[in-house]
Amino acid sequence: MALADTIPKRVMVLDTTLRDGEQSPGIALSSDDKVRIAQALDDLGVDVIEAGFPAASPGEQEAVHRVASTVSHARVCGLARCNKKDIDALLDCGLDYVHTFIATSDIHLKYKLKMDREEVKAKAIDSIEYAKAHGLTVEFSCEDATRTDLAFLKEMHLAVQGAGVDKINVPDTVGTISPPAMEYLIKELMTVTKVPIAVHCHDDFGLAVANSIAAVRQGARQVHVTVNGLGERAGNAALEETVLSLMAFYGIETSIDTRKIGPTSKLVSRLTGYPIPANKAIIGNNAFAHESGIHVHGVLGDPSTYEAFGPELVGVKRNIVIGKHTGTHSVKEKLNEYGVDITDDQVVQVVDKVKKLADSGKDVDDAELVALAYHIIGQQEAKNVRLKEFAVFTGINTTPTAVVSVEVNGKKKTGTSIGIGPVDAAINAIKVVMGNDISLEEYRLSAITGGSDSLCEVTVRVARNGGKKMMSIGKAVGSDIVNTSVDATMEALDRLYCHKKEL
Ligand code: KIV
Ligand code: ZN
Repeated sequence: MALADTIPKRVMVLDTTLRDGEQSPGIALSSDDKVRIAQALDDLGVDVIEAGFPAASPGEQEAVHRVASTVSHARVCGLARCNKKDIDALLDCGLDYVHTFIATSDIHLKYKLKMDREEVKAKAIDSIEYAKAHGLTVEFSCEDATRTDLAFLKEMHLAVQGAGVDKINVPDTVGTISPPAMEYLIKELMTVTKVPIAVHCHDDFGLAVANSIAAVRQGARQVHVTVNGLGERAGNAALEETVLSLMAFYGIETSIDTRKIGPTSKLVSRLTGYPIPANKAIIGNNAFAHESGIHVHGVLGDPSTYEAFGPELVGVKRNIVIGKHTGTHSVKEKLNEYGVDITDDQVVQVVDKVKKLADSGKDVDDAELVALAYHIIGQQEAKNVRLKEFAVFTGINTTPTAVVSVEVNGKKKTGTSIGIGPVDAAINAIKVVMGNDISLEEYRLSAITGGSDSLCEVTVRVARNGGKKMMSIGKAVGSDIVNTSVDATMEALDRLYCHKKEL
């Protein structure tokens, strides 16, 4: 059969961030977190959400139940071993879709299950019949399929189809298969499998996405993925990489709204506490960052010179980074973003200074670049916006409330606001004073030293939306997070209000 005949036009996406993803060492999601992630996955457009393993604990059962009753578009499934107890726990969550599994490789049979092949087969059949009798959609996995004897694996596929299974998943449990071997395996399994085949790949050799695509090339119609590639050990095939690769290389459709990938990825990273590596494909901070003068010049001419696709496709932003390899184009573009008027000669001086700083090992962030530019322009960072008074009330069982007085171009204004924390309350109060066309675009907090008395550094990026959007940045260092956040915000506002373009 020609290759093109085996490639499906559309592939279903089963997201297992809430199950395999949660099995990543150190991740334990609360029921609220699971619900928030499930809502984001539903919005993103995944076909199936594997919400968890209901038999694992009463808390897990409650979380899966809540996910099932929250999600409105995706189907929700749960994991169950091949036994009635696990399937009953899943039924108690109100689910109508089970992903049930049993190991089939000789290694697992001998050292883990201590069962023979016939026993394993019988257990799988019994469980599938039980689940079907309870009205469930059943997806079945031979765990460690890629290390299972092929003749036995085919025998299992035939047996579970006889028991009424709806879909069969092929897990590469230990991430040990290669793309050509995966193509061979799926091609062989397609000869005996009449229900849709799914694939579930782990990333132990960094091949999870390539192996998933190899399976699809031979007719797999569903991919198991996780956001940010979370999952046991080295993780699972990353949703963002798999979906974009299927689209880009084979024109395969999925139901994913790719523009929501960036925000979903950030949400998952925040709630799981797993940072996204800067150089992670598609959603890492560097995926659309350009530093070298040559690249920035190219990208400013046309982004396709150094980008495989535009960041807007996946809901993230392009970033021009200032550093050792920076050229004048980058600096001018960046300063323009912040409304700084600068001549070509002055830009050359800024670049020269940036390179000297970089050579001595110092990074220059946006706030420092703006400060440097003002210094070179010789423009006094005029105090158009001054903080006169500030107080915040917070505590336990108290809604954080802030009062701020600010002098803007000589006129004093006072405002108050509440927030979810003291920093939020303070920034909200500043926004009240300054008029609500001020928006906080970015807030970054880092500790400079360790310990509870450590210094913190806060960087804020604010924008003014009236007419043309104007950006500004401010940075402050201090020992109190709330006061330092206020200082950084005031610096950003002061710069925003002294933009020449604005006056
Ligand atoms: O990796 C795996 O084999 C699994 C199974 C539960 C399908 O996650
Ligand atoms: Zn897995």
